[in-house]
Amino acid sequence: MTEKAAVPETASNDEAYDNMHQAIKMHFKRMDEGTVQDFELLAQVHTNSLKALPDLLINMLQTLKSDAIYPIDRLSHSLQSATRALKDNKDEEYIVCCLLHDFGESLGPFNHGEIAGAILHPFITEGNQWMLAHHGIFQTYYFGDKLGIDPNRRDQFKSSPYYEQTVEFCAKYDEVAFDPDYRSEPMSTFEPMVRRLLGSKKWSVM
Ligand SMILES: [Fe+2]
Ligand SMILES: [Fe+2]
Repeated sequence: MTEKAAVPETASNDEAYDNMHQAIKMHFKRMDEGTVQDFELLAQVHTNSLKALPDLLINMLQTLKSDAIYPIDRLSHSLQSATRALKDNKDEEYIVCCLLHDFGESLGPFNHGEIAGAILHPFITEGNQWMLAHHGIFQTYYFGDKLGIDPNRRDQFKSSPYYEQTVEFCAKYDEVAFDPDYRSEPMSTFEPMVRRLLGSKKWSVM
């Protein structure tokens, strides 16, 4: 049993808070010395992190709005990508992948697709995960020649079962989604989709 900290009658608010905090704290110095109660708390931490994940990702998307160098900011690009998929009657999981495909671009300029693929991996199909992780390489088909990069690097993946899916994603929902005249749906259209997808985990928390 986790001991309940006794909060003295005269304790200040700070002391009461410290006592309460001690009572709900994991106490091990090394993990193999942890108790069942410690790891129940750890599981609860993961559960809480999972609940907070939709807001965290949506907030990270909002920060892409500050990017003024692109023809349209990257939040608008994300919304346009998702709207194009919505209008093509793609399924909800695919639409959320479009919305979130670039959220990690500031964290991983060289491998942002792998970031999106890794974070969404527990919630999406193998095909969508592969598509997100590889879309950066496939996307260079459209501009690699301007940077001295082989535009056909995607050819090395021709034998993948997800090659055509990733070609389609880049062609229809990524490389064309920089049009300032396109009328995208607002974030409120997609927020419930994000929450549904991230609430339907395919993996267990622990
Ligand atoms: Fe991207
Ligand atoms: Fe993109």
